[in-house]
Order: sequence, then C-alpha cells, then structure tokens
Amino acid sequence: MKLGILISGRGSNLQAIIDAIAIGEMAASIAVVISNRADAAGLARATQAGIPTLVMPHKAYADRAAYDVALAAALKARGVELVCLAGFMRLLGPAFINQFPNAVINIHPSLLPAFPGLDAQRQAFEHGVKVAGATVHFVTADLDAGPIICQMAVPVLDADTAETLAARILDAEHQLYPDAIGRLTGGRWKVTGRRVEFLKAEG
Ligand code: GRF
Repeated sequence: MKLGILISGRGSNLQAIIDAIAIGEMAASIAVVISNRADAAGLARATQAGIPTLVMPHKAYADRAAYDVALAAALKARGVELVCLAGFMRLLGPAFINQFPNAVINIHPSLLPAFPGLDAQRQAFEHGVKVAGATVHFVTADLDAGPIICQMAVPVLDADTAETLAARILDAEHQLYPDAIGRLTGGRWKVTGRRVEFLKAEG
C-alpha cells in the first residue's frame, strides 16, 4: 500500500510513520511527502529517509479548489492509495476528498468530538478535563468531524501545564498513528455511517 503524507511543519508524526515502516510494522511504503510550506522541518526528515518530497505552496493557486485538484493529481501520479495528513494546516474540500473515498486520514490531538480545531491540547487543558488524548479519523469536508478510526487516551495530571499535557498527547500520537495506518493497510475494515469496524481475518 502506497502512502502519501501531507505536512506543514515539524513532522514528528511523519517520523513515527517512517520509523514504524523501517522496523516492518506495516505493509506500506511512503511514495511521497508533500508540504504546502517550503520551510517545513518535516521535509528534511523525509529526505533523510530517502523519501521523495514535493513543496506545493497553496498561495500559488487561484483558489482552494484549484489547489485541491493539483494536490490530488500529484498524489495520484505517484500511485498513492492512502493519504495521511500529519500536521497539514490546510482544509481540504470535496475536489480533493472525493478523489480518495475513505482514503484520507488525519490525526488530531484531542479525543474527538471534544475540542476540534486549533490548539486542541490547550482547549482540553483549560476546560479542565481529566482525560485527554488523540484521535485518528477519516477526513470529510467538515473540520475534524469524520468517522473515528482509533483513539488513545492519556491522563491529565494536577501538575500539568498545557505544554506538558501536549507533550504527553504527542507521545500517544506517535504510537497511535502508525498503529492506525497498520490496521487500515493490513486488514479488512468497513465504514457504516460514522462507525469504523475492523473485520476479523477469514479462515
Ligand atoms: C500534531 O499534534 C497533530 O495531531 C496535529 O498537528 C500536530 C503535528 O505535529 N494535527 P507534527 O508535525 O507531526 O510534529
């Protein structure tokens, strides 16, 4: 299964996926890493791992739909079957999503549907929740609202700051995202409404 990873920045989740593939944890390879920002630190991580990269600045396109079409074409041209957003800070519309049915996923640093949108870890901290975490979900045209593939919870401790909580959530993300990709690429599953179900192997 060929993955395409979209990033905008640091790329620590990209690194977790690269590392999981390197130790044979999933039957997948990364065909391309695409960033909308030329200064994304994650690009160097891909290059270091010998993975082709592409910078596609959204500002170079007339509108969102034009960007979506170009991005989808770049991924299709490289044979990408599963698109993984890893800190990609652009909304993708129907012109993109409809070209990859049930094949665009994202990781979000909260237990969705709580705390969608930006700065989710700080939202959770300031709300005073006692359990926080991360979610991998299918991407739909609605922000952070697609069917949930898997989640991992972490505790919120009395001594936490928003920063220490975010670091604990990020550690969970680095386990959860490769695990989710491994399950999606390595077995059978179906989506019914909002429910994602992993099916037992036959025989
Ligand atoms: C992560 O917290 C992820 O959940 C969110 O953006 C951040 C990306 O971090 N969508 P990185 O670039 O993978 O280090």
